Amino acid sequence: MKGKFVTLEGCEGVGKSRQLKMLEEYLVNNGIKFYMTREPGGTPIAEQIRNIILDGKNVSMTDECEAMLYASSRIQLIKEEILPRLERGELVICDRYIDSSFAYQGTARGLGFDFIKNINSYAIENCMPDCTLFLNLSPEQAFKRKGGVDKTDRLELSGIEFHNKVYQGYLTLAEKYKDRFSVIDASGEKEQTHAKIVNALKQRGII
Ligand code: TYD
Repeated sequence: MKGKFVTLEGCEGVGKSRQLKMLEEYLVNNGIKFYMTREPGGTPIAEQIRNIILDGKNVSMTDECEAMLYASSRIQLIKEEILPRLERGELVICDRYIDSSFAYQGTARGLGFDFIKNINSYAIENCMPDCTLFLNLSPEQAFKRKGGVDKTDRLELSGIEFHNKVYQGYLTLAEKYKDRFSVIDASGEKEQTHAKIVNALKQRGII
């Protein structure tokens, strides 16, 4: 693939959205062209799938159904937006990707690594990130800083135990995929975290 593919991962409330905004500003200010998108969603069809997954009314959704909806949203985004851009040599940045499925559905919901790998295999081939920025902050620290949960979001209602499992899942992934994972300490000021992100991307020759 000619382009570079960067994904951003982390538990709820680690400041991911703020960091994406700061990175976006940095890239614009430095004249670096990029395409930024998010999961689940990023295309009209994938955004509709996102609405089903995150709808607070869908409490009876099975774990397997949830995992497959994430995979469906992903395959749509990959084929419609990500792959064509990487083939054209563009820099693509995605807010969450396959590692969210490994951490949330595979580890925290207990479906296992292989289940997630298998249902994503069609979409994921040829489309693994060159760099995954993992914002490292424990759920306790993150929730404290965020000051509560958004009651309309089914996933955020799952409780601290669930989020601790997600966090453990990420730490395991960071070890398993050492080559592409950049672990970013997100416990400091937002400017410090931003500088670490820029530094990691420079070190990997992405920007
Ligand atoms: P969003 O509101 O975008 O959260 P955030 O700002 O934390 O990214 O909602 C995305 C939610 O979907 C988030 O709780 C993580 C979850 N998710 C999964 O469980 N599996 C996945 O594969 C993906 C992409 C996201």
